[in-house]
Amino acid sequence: MLQPPDLSLSLELPEITPAEFAQIQQLAREKFGLDLKPGKEKLVEARLWRLLRQGGYKNFHQLYRDIIRDTTGESLIALIDALTTNVTSFLREAEHLEFLATTVVPALWDRPTIDIWSCACATGEEVYSIAFVLLERFGHEIETRLQLLGSDISTRALRYAERAIYPESRLANLPPNWLQRFFLRGHGRMAGYYKVRPEICRLVKFERINLVEPFDHLPRFPVIFCRNVLIYFTPEARSECVPRLVDRLEAGGYMFTGLAETLSGTDARLAYVQPGVYRKKPARKLRRGGNDQWSDDGV
Ligand SMILES: C[S@@+](CC[C@H](N)C(=O)[O-])C[C@H]1O[C@@H](n2cnc3c(N)ncnc32)[C@H](O)[C@@H]1O
Repeated sequence: MLQPPDLSLSLELPEITPAEFAQIQQLAREKFGLDLKPGKEKLVEARLWRLLRQGGYKNFHQLYRDIIRDTTGESLIALIDALTTNVTSFLREAEHLEFLATTVVPALWDRPTIDIWSCACATGEEVYSIAFVLLERFGHEIETRLQLLGSDISTRALRYAERAIYPESRLANLPPNWLQRFFLRGHGRMAGYYKVRPEICRLVKFERINLVEPFDHLPRFPVIFCRNVLIYFTPEARSECVPRLVDRLEAGGYMFTGLAETLSGTDARLAYVQPGVYRKKPARKLRRGGNDQWSDDGV
């Protein structure tokens, strides 16, 4: 566990040495798949200063040493919370939401449930945006069937997502009537804040999932949003993670990535549809082998 603060230490904060940076870099790569490239020293330093100060550590090596000694895993959680970039926004890359509402969901309409996984949902804006857009388009009819899973590695971001309370400034790109339709307005101490309505929050479950660790307890989804997270991974972590995500996608299901990202060449089961949109190819025909049946695409 990280140490309680030692208030006798001066507030002077040390710089990260090349050896200390290499230690953090290796840990982030092994445990979270993160690619802390050379040149990110100052960023890492700034993001870890709070942990350094809270723990009363004199240097980054002491912090690293306690993180790897901590068998509870809590220090690793604190590390990833400090290192991750949780930047997101409501209706980000809205063309994906449009495509979801006009092309993907109508084809799923006959199903009893419509399940969507946002696998790096950060502070929740992505997963709530999906709910808002689909509720706007399909009305209450979809409310009983929509099941959203929001996951992220950052417990801090997930706590924020679960609370579902956002300052007005973060709602600037939502149509004004959506504030009333999808949020409760804060008063008194909460003036200037909006809370997603409970009936919408009920459509979303949150879970902490590290994408570089197994997640095969999850069902297969017809839609996975995996936007703006793989860009932070090492090439090895990316090429190990993408096939496991595709495994969690139904045949014919859609995977969304950030508009600037490409999955081309990462998994033969994916076909490019449009920027940031991929579709898992239909399962190949079954081959017969005695009494057994096999398909050759692992779906
Ligand atoms: C820039 S945000 C993207 C949020 C949202 N998907 C969007 O596009 O607006 C990246 C998120 O990926 C999460 N993340 C980073 N490494 C991860 C990992 N190994 N497993 C799961 N989530 C991870 C971070 O905590 C962060 O919340």
